[in-house]
Amino acid sequence: MSKLYIPVLAGTTREQRKSIFAARLVAEVGSTFEDVETEVIDPKDFNFPGDGNDPEGKDARYTAITEKAHGFFIVTPEYNHSFPGSLKRMLDSELKNYIHKPVAFAGASSGQWGGVRAIEQLVGSVREMGLVATFTDMQFPKVQELFDENGVLQNEAYREYVKGAWAELIWMAKVLKTGRENEPSKHHQ
Ligand SMILES: Cc1cc2nc3c(=O)[nH]c(=O)nc-3n(C[C@H](O)[C@H](O)[C@H](O)COP(=O)(O)O)c2cc1C
Repeated sequence: MSKLYIPVLAGTTREQRKSIFAARLVAEVGSTFEDVETEVIDPKDFNFPGDGNDPEGKDARYTAITEKAHGFFIVTPEYNHSFPGSLKRMLDSELKNYIHKPVAFAGASSGQWGGVRAIEQLVGSVREMGLVATFTDMQFPKVQELFDENGVLQNEAYREYVKGAWAELIWMAKVLKTGRENEPSKHHQ
C-alpha cells in the first residue's frame, strides 16, 4: 500500500513561537509510522492575500498539499482562548480539499491547560470544512518548560502520548480513504 500523506499544520507565525517545537515533535513521531509520510506545514512559508478561498487568495503550494493529503494533524497554540488567525487564514484558503478527511489536534500553551480551549474552538470550524475530528487530542501545557530553547523535548513520555494520537488519526485516514475511493458522494472528489 502506498503511504498516507498526513501533514502537520503549525498554528502560528509568531516570531518567538514555542508551539513550533510541538509541531516538529508531532511530525517526528508521525514519521516513525512506516505507512505515513509527513512534514510540518508552516504558515510562515505561504502567502495568502486577502481572505477567503477565491483563486487569488490561495497559495498554489498549499492547494497541492491539501489535495494530496489523506488527513491532517493540527498543532495550535491558544491565543485568547481560541486558535490564531494565521491558522484560520491558511485553513480558510481551501474548501473542497478537506472533505471527508480526518484531522487530529494538539494544543500548546504557556499555562496548565495545554491549549484545550483552542482545540474546542477548532472542532466547530473544521467540521464546517468537511473534516472529521479524532478524539485523541494532545496537550502541551507549559510548553516553554517541555522544550528547551533549542526545541529539545524535556519529558520523553510525550512521545508516547503523541503516538496514541497518531494511531487514531492513521486508522481514520485509512478508513476514510477507503470510503472516499469506494463510496460515491456528491461532496468529496
Ligand atoms: C496573542 C496571544 C494570546 C494568548 N492567549 C493565551 C490564552 O488564552 N491562554 C493561554 O493559555 N495562553 C495564551 N497565550 C500564551 C501562549 O500559550 C504561549 O505563547 C505559548 O508559548 C504558545 O504559543 P506560541 O506558539 O505563540 O509560543 C497567548 C499568547 C499570545 C501571543
